[in-house]
Amino acid sequence: MKRLKIKEILTGEQIGQQVLVKGWVRTKRGSKNVNFIALNDGSTINNLQVVADVEKFGEELFKDINTSTALGITGTLVESQGSGQKVELNATEIVIYGKADPDKYPIQPKKHSLEFLRENAHLRFRTATFSAVFRIRHAMAFAIHNYFNQKGFYYLHTPIITGSDAEGAGQMFRVTTLDAKNPPLTEEGDVDFTADFFGKSTNLTVSGQLEGELGATALGEIYTFGPTFRAENSNTTRHLAEFWMIEPEMAFYELKDNMDLAEDFLKYLIRYALDNCMDDLQFLSKRLQEEEKNKPTEERSMELVEKLRFVLENDFERLLYTDAINILLESKHYKKGKFQFPVAWGVDLQSEHERYLVEKHFKKPVILINYPKDIKAFYMKLNDDGKTVAAMDVLFPGIGEIIGGSQREDNYDKLVARMEAMGVPVEEMSWYLDTRRFGSVPHSGFGLGFERFILFVTGMGNIRDVIAFPRTPKNAEF
Ligand code: 4AD
Ligand code: MG
Repeated sequence: MKRLKIKEILTGEQIGQQVLVKGWVRTKRGSKNVNFIALNDGSTINNLQVVADVEKFGEELFKDINTSTALGITGTLVESQGSGQKVELNATEIVIYGKADPDKYPIQPKKHSLEFLRENAHLRFRTATFSAVFRIRHAMAFAIHNYFNQKGFYYLHTPIITGSDAEGAGQMFRVTTLDAKNPPLTEEGDVDFTADFFGKSTNLTVSGQLEGELGATALGEIYTFGPTFRAENSNTTRHLAEFWMIEPEMAFYELKDNMDLAEDFLKYLIRYALDNCMDDLQFLSKRLQEEEKNKPTEERSMELVEKLRFVLENDFERLLYTDAINILLESKHYKKGKFQFPVAWGVDLQSEHERYLVEKHFKKPVILINYPKDIKAFYMKLNDDGKTVAAMDVLFPGIGEIIGGSQREDNYDKLVARMEAMGVPVEEMSWYLDTRRFGSVPHSGFGLGFERFILFVTGMGNIRDVIAFPRTPKNAEF
């Protein structure tokens, strides 16, 4: 018999038929005569209720059926007697694939803390919460490819091992095969990387952008979607050392086109989630509301589905950095000394400032543009004022910065001057500068932090809970 997924079975189309399901037990409860097994196979947040006659299978069998036992069950699908589900399965045959000793299995059928589940990240997929998060994560990845494919963008695979520091922030993980204990040295006593595997110093990429620009200035519109690595020692709920980034790069796009694309893209993804992931979203929403019950009303966040609809239905606020600084300086929050970090023209905004603008002042997503040149990367286009660059950050409620991007400096001389001023090695980057030497065009792009976006869509509070195996300072388990 062909195995059916529980998602398909729960539509009720097979009522009256014999079906075969395979999955893991979520819960089992029983009386003397019948046992009720809630089975889940990962295809949906919902379980299939299986009804098994104790006498028919013998009491012994049920001792081996516990939470997370893997089963194959054949039976007749009938209309459900109880409430809550449309159908249930009257078991005629039960096969145990793998037992799960209830005294040793760490995930019990009760509420566990997210911290506990993080320590057991190898098993947390078996919980309803994490299965929902990872189904949504999949759907969003799929939607991203769909969006760009429909728009004629090409998916470009940029390298993971690279010799350049795209962001110029020096937060890179070195890649080497040299003996750490006894590396070859130059006459000056430095490590001799010409003896290393690639004949030069290499690291894991912090961004695929620079290579993306090479693609965009020939293919027109490209995007990357891959892992990026940052050795920044930030132990926050929004930072990972290994995260996934989506970086579209478009020839002939100026800053406004870049903003329009970013807003349209984010709204497409949110719409896709609402259209395709409603069961999981509703489950996560209920979970969130349970968690927030104990918070004072003014601190509770908007209900998840309502929040997603709200972002979809409202234009993002577009604002100059300079105006944002003024809003912050004039806020009661600032005057009462409630910001931890300083506010002044020229300083980088911290997440508390970003969230104030989004959550308290505008109460919707904000696109901030034209930042001071000294707090942004070397490749951003210098504005006519000589002080600011055509940067663009998209700020989201509960998250802060979700997208960072810019129009790129397309003038060769200005770009070289910026690189020199910021200490970027010009000779090593001549491959990058060739785009400005030959057929240079205005172009723009941005990077969406995939996990930060998944945090927003799922309503989860910690970035470690939306990536399967989080890498953070002092943690690379599994
Ligand atoms: O603002 P960032 O550093 O921009 C770039 O890397 C550009 N090269 C993008 C481009 O224009 N093509 O990073 C982009 C986004 C951030 O807005 C944030 O969402 C996410 O990447 N991000 C992180 N996410 C998780 N953990 C970290 N440590 C992150 N650092 C950045
Ligand atoms: Mg940024």
